[in-house]
Amino acid sequence: MIKAIRGMRDILPPETSRWQWVESVAREVFDLYGYQEIRLPLLERTELFARSIGEETDIVAKEMYTFPDRKGDSLTLRPEATASVLRAVLENRLEKGAGVKKFYTLGPMFRYERPQKGRFRQFFQINCEAYGVEAPELDVEVILLLMHILKRLLPGELRLLVNSLGCPECQVKFKAALGLFLINREGLCEDCQRRRTTNALRVMDCKSAHCQGILQDAPVIRDYLCPDCADHFARVLELLDRFNVAYELKPRLVRGLDYYTRTAFEVAAVGLGAQDAVAGGGRYNGLAKELGGPDLPAIGFAIGEDRLLEVLPENFGFDLRPRIFVAALGEPARERAFTVIQELRRKDLAAEMDFEGRSLKAQMSMADRLGATYAVILGEKEIATGLAQVRPMKKFSQETGGKVKLTEVGAGRTLEAQEQVPFEDLMDYLIRKIRDKENS
Ligand code: HAM
Repeated sequence: MIKAIRGMRDILPPETSRWQWVESVAREVFDLYGYQEIRLPLLERTELFARSIGEETDIVAKEMYTFPDRKGDSLTLRPEATASVLRAVLENRLEKGAGVKKFYTLGPMFRYERPQKGRFRQFFQINCEAYGVEAPELDVEVILLLMHILKRLLPGELRLLVNSLGCPECQVKFKAALGLFLINREGLCEDCQRRRTTNALRVMDCKSAHCQGILQDAPVIRDYLCPDCADHFARVLELLDRFNVAYELKPRLVRGLDYYTRTAFEVAAVGLGAQDAVAGGGRYNGLAKELGGPDLPAIGFAIGEDRLLEVLPENFGFDLRPRIFVAALGEPARERAFTVIQELRRKDLAAEMDFEGRSLKAQMSMADRLGATYAVILGEKEIATGLAQVRPMKKFSQETGGKVKLTEVGAGRTLEAQEQVPFEDLMDYLIRKIRDKENS
């Protein structure tokens, strides 16, 4: 049997309804802050990522899915969205005009990493990017937006880690100092021995515990910030304080991509284990120019959706819609049931029936399995009298907080009685019952 590729997985129902829930909350919050959706190709020219993310990063050096197309052009499955969003913005001139330009995008990213808990080769991000404004107010607004989405979804503890990576001038000075510090250090991994001369900042992002140990006494970029960058960062922190956003200063936070300037941040979720970064982002003021565009200040973040889903509370996001199951016995009843479910759906009510002529008992357990709120029973007697039986289900999913799982209704909850409803009133009766349930 052919199986899915390692590190890539199927996201199956009912889990998919949790994903839809997360995405709908994100869309709602983006809308609140004035962000618009942008949808992009999954494939881009390799050069776009090599130039943006940086040749010395793990992503570009080791993790990209790169291949020649039939004409021999080198293409790459996007490992992140920031470079693609900016490419699309510049190509379509969306940066023109005054004010902040705000976009978001959702979708899969691809990195050839070692799969483990919380780390996949195809994973999903919720991305946010804002262009055109240098002011620290925008940095803070973007962080507030990120925390707004996360707090709507995660009641657990979140740690916001912040740093400033300065402008290119600060970075040149800092890299020189760091390179000097590293020059005589023994035992750096092979990659870092090279990086200390090619791009010393990347040593700080190395995953080797030994390299991290060596860095304990290394200089920190905060001491190399020019006055403008220091002021910018001080204002960001002052505003975070003003809005009561708790943060931790992380002077060694550099992020895994080369394009960052000034503010950089990550959010760690407690309970995720080793891969606890649920989101990351920062400013990247130089990237537009690097890609041949104008000077364009930019800032953004990406939430790792797979990781977020792992810490999403159990009872969040399952489909809570009341459902009606129409159980029918005999051909005339089945004919009527088929009409009833189509009419219910036309009224935007979720309805199901059995098409395989099962026994009433089997149909009722099907109704249970589907988490139906009401069963409508149509048998020979009902067809003869013109009265349908409407039975509130004894077991239904809502009692579990939405998870599609069968649970007996708890003690103390009185069940509504089964009722007989004339066929001509059935639709109005069910609509009223369901609406009452939705509003209760
Ligand atoms: P990143 O830190 O590489 O940043 O990724 C952002 C988030 O994506 C991580 O915090 C993590 O939750 C998730 N993630 C990354 N790799 C994996 C993986 N292999 N499996 C599961 N989840 C993963 C960026 O991608 C930047 N483009 C963010 C950004 C937007 N900066 C400015 N704008």
